Amino acid sequence: MKKGIGQEFMEKTKYKYLEESDQRKEVKNPPLQTAFDKKKKLIDLPAPDKIDVPSWDLRKAIEDRVSVRKYSTEALTLNELAWLLWATQGIKEISEIYTKRIVPSAGARHAFETYLLINNVEGLKPGIYRYLALEHKLVEIDLSEDIGDRVIEGAYGQKMVKAGAVTFIWVAIPYRIAWRYGQRSYRYLHLDIGHVAQNLYLAVENINSGCCAIAAFYDEQMNDVLSLDGEEQFVIYMASMGKKIE
Ligand SMILES: Cc1cc2nc3c(=O)[nH]c(=O)nc-3n(C[C@H](O)[C@H](O)[C@H](O)COP(=O)(O)O)c2cc1C
Repeated sequence: MKKGIGQEFMEKTKYKYLEESDQRKEVKNPPLQTAFDKKKKLIDLPAPDKIDVPSWDLRKAIEDRVSVRKYSTEALTLNELAWLLWATQGIKEISEIYTKRIVPSAGARHAFETYLLINNVEGLKPGIYRYLALEHKLVEIDLSEDIGDRVIEGAYGQKMVKAGAVTFIWVAIPYRIAWRYGQRSYRYLHLDIGHVAQNLYLAVENINSGCCAIAAFYDEQMNDVLSLDGEEQFVIYMASMGKKIE
């Protein structure tokens, strides 16, 4: 195979090429969560200890996990959505420079924000929302009528993003982790998000739902849908989910 940017990326992110990180230079740490428009509507979610979902056998969840691309028209409840958000990004501990969450993350940097294309969740209008992990709330982002179709286009035409109850759109904030690890952090971003998506794959199992990871998307189009600049913030991964067809 001819050498290309992939091999160059792996080479140049070896420790021997890394410059002193901003953390080592004692530059103040970036915020633990990206700012949001305080004028936008916030939606309360059931608190983590009040989320009511059945207990599930871990072995069964692992054995049954499968990518599901077709969903029933049944709505998700807010309780079930809260479960999925907590299972993928829920916060257990907050300090000035890090959060400890349900999922692991290199250096506990947790350099992601979770956006949601809500198609069919009880009590929520369809549109784009963001999960505020620190507040454990949702904030409305964009309820335009064509937003679901724009996500389909951005997601390589994959119609499943609008067919299920919710599509997760994970956004990377590279400086939150590059502050500590410099250019090597771009490796860790892609490792970290895999843990997040895997928890979604397992968490959907006990709410009679299925999900499918999505990495086939047009970067520019998906970043445009969320008004991201593509450098300081960019879409890194997605996953559609919905109730199983009985
Ligand atoms: C990194 C990654 C990206 C993926 N992207 C897509 C995608 O864009 N569209 C899709 O239909 N499936 C996608 N999948 C799902 C895979 O096709 C699926 O995991 C694989 O076929 C194995 O099937 P299983 O998950 O049911 O075991 C992706 C999976 C991973 C891990």
